[in-house]
Amino acid sequence: MTETGYVVEDALDLLESLESDAVALCHLDDAWSRPGRQGEFGVEYPTHEFDQTRALLDEIRRVLKPGGWLIADADDWLLPRLLDYLCGEWGDVPASSRYTGGGYRRVGGVVYVNARGDPDTSTPGQYLSNAGYPVVFGHAGATERRSTAGARQPARHPRRTEPGYPYGWGSVKPVAPYRRWIEALTDGGETVLVPCAGTAPAAIAAEATGRDWLAVDVEPEARSAFERRRSVRSRQQSLGEATGDGGGRV
Ligand SMILES: C[S@@+](CC[C@H](N)C(=O)[O-])C[C@H]1O[C@@H](n2cnc3c(N)ncnc32)[C@H](O)[C@@H]1O
Repeated sequence: MTETGYVVEDALDLLESLESDAVALCHLDDAWSRPGRQGEFGVEYPTHEFDQTRALLDEIRRVLKPGGWLIADADDWLLPRLLDYLCGEWGDVPASSRYTGGGYRRVGGVVYVNARGDPDTSTPGQYLSNAGYPVVFGHAGATERRSTAGARQPARHPRRTEPGYPYGWGSVKPVAPYRRWIEALTDGGETVLVPCAGTAPAAIAAEATGRDWLAVDVEPEARSAFERRRSVRSRQQSLGEATGDGGGRV
């Protein structure tokens, strides 16, 4: 149904054009607007009210294969709204693996760490909100896609590890956590969907692990930023392979 590629279009329009039950995993780092978000920390791109986030999530559920996973980045404003929506609309399966329903499964997160492995509190965010962000996991109906990969992942902030950061874009997330989750929850050749993609770390991770991917962003500059990021990473990868240090996994 899908072909690998980065489309410049409204995400809801693209989602509505996709077949049902077609993608194995969706990474949503949505352009939600909380009061005061616009202009903060490089958020120069268009944002929208939570109603549009709900509409996107309704479509994401439709296009996920039965048992396919949603991985949704959040912050402390978005988190309760996202959980309310998921529990109410997708289902409220208890976190234990004994329960086999669908819907909201778990809150994990990305913890930014410094070179010593301690939380990197130099990353932006006052009021205790630095050093990472929450990530919400859910699935469409009961799932056989199980994994012991942690929902909480440590990562270096991309500004520490990627020479081109931030590629002229805002809210740029690291690749490594999404790579671990994609490897854990999908098979090679399946499709990873990345609406509101920006520099599309999950698409970069999907490509690196032999998955198909479909990314969409309404801003043409987002695709250019993605292309810059992809080419920096592929140079890092080649360098890593040449020096044997496994470059590209950060
Ligand atoms: C939080 S950023 C994503 C950042 C990305 N995770 C990264 O690491 O670069 C949200 C993105 O949603 C895009 N966006 C906003 N409204 C959109 C819409 N209606 N359709 C598609 N993309 C949209 C913005 O242009 C922005 O790139």
